[in-house]
Amino acid sequence: MVDPSPTPSLEQIQRAWQRFEGQIRETPSWQWQGHRIDRSKPIDSTLFLKLELFQHTGSFKPRGAMTVMRELAPDALQRGVVGVSAGNHGMALAFAAAALGARATVAMPETASPARVEACRALGAEVVLTPDIASAFAKAEELERDGLSYVHPFEGPLTALGTATLGLEFLRQVGKLDALFVAIGGGGLAAGVAAAVKQLQPRCRVFGVEPEGADSMHRSFAAGAPQRIDAVRTIADSLGSPTAMPYSFALCRQHVDELVKVSDDELCAAMALLFADAKLAVEPAGAAALAAMLQCRERLAGQRIGLVVCGANVDPDAFADCLRRGRTGIV
Ligand SMILES: Cc1ncc(COP(=O)(O)O)c(C=O)c1O
Repeated sequence: MVDPSPTPSLEQIQRAWQRFEGQIRETPSWQWQGHRIDRSKPIDSTLFLKLELFQHTGSFKPRGAMTVMRELAPDALQRGVVGVSAGNHGMALAFAAAALGARATVAMPETASPARVEACRALGAEVVLTPDIASAFAKAEELERDGLSYVHPFEGPLTALGTATLGLEFLRQVGKLDALFVAIGGGGLAAGVAAAVKQLQPRCRVFGVEPEGADSMHRSFAAGAPQRIDAVRTIADSLGSPTAMPYSFALCRQHVDELVKVSDDELCAAMALLFADAKLAVEPAGAAALAAMLQCRERLAGQRIGLVVCGANVDPDAFADCLRRGRTGIV
């Protein structure tokens, strides 16, 4: 049985939101209407997008990184932070560190997209390139032993507290929702968002969305404990966590009502629809909520539905490939 104790309270979430003190953006929510989505969405439904792609660094990740770093003791903050990332987490770490006057070191595999490596550097991080992801973790551990504070990309109460602020903000902006869709990689985003939503609106059904080729949370739900998968195969690189972890798993198990798997083709089609109709250029993870909602559309007639558009860091060539693959049927 999952321990219900770790859920952050609404009061804690509200306090974390206030502590951002303007360093994290309150991103807009938007009711999506357009001739293409109106043909595809559930009958008589109302769709709201949480435009978190407009967060600093282009994804929701600074909410968690900032919440973790704000709790560090002054001397720890002064020594600096370290993280492992192939992209969005590294950028968030760099951003939050700079905002708090600290130094960030990001260990990145050489396979990380050069644009993301450059973005981490441009945001002020020191980037250490390693041959692969395993050696990136080894490097981060070494730096942690040297005194830097390790900031995990998705696990832990403070990270979930940070992502919960997104759920709080969204519901305040749009009012009552019947359903909310949110992407899952490791599960820190969904853990926090679902915890906030279920306390504010217990009747809102929360759907967690994973790529078919990175379904560690599905397997973890089935097994009743966090699971690791052998291989990650998805175009949604930000959702490619090979493992679920205890805290975020427990929160998701408690507050996420249902998990939905989406294929790479569905992700591309959702990216193409967001681009054509909402004029939003998002990365595959940012389209996952829409892809899942379209899959479930028959049962969502008449509902008020929220989609978290969680990120937009994709290089132009990869974006163009996804649009070509996904545009069939969109006029
Ligand atoms: C844009 C984007 N969306 C979703 C996720 C998934 O978040 P989590 O790993 O907390 O489930 C990530 C993780 O890096 C991300 O960068």
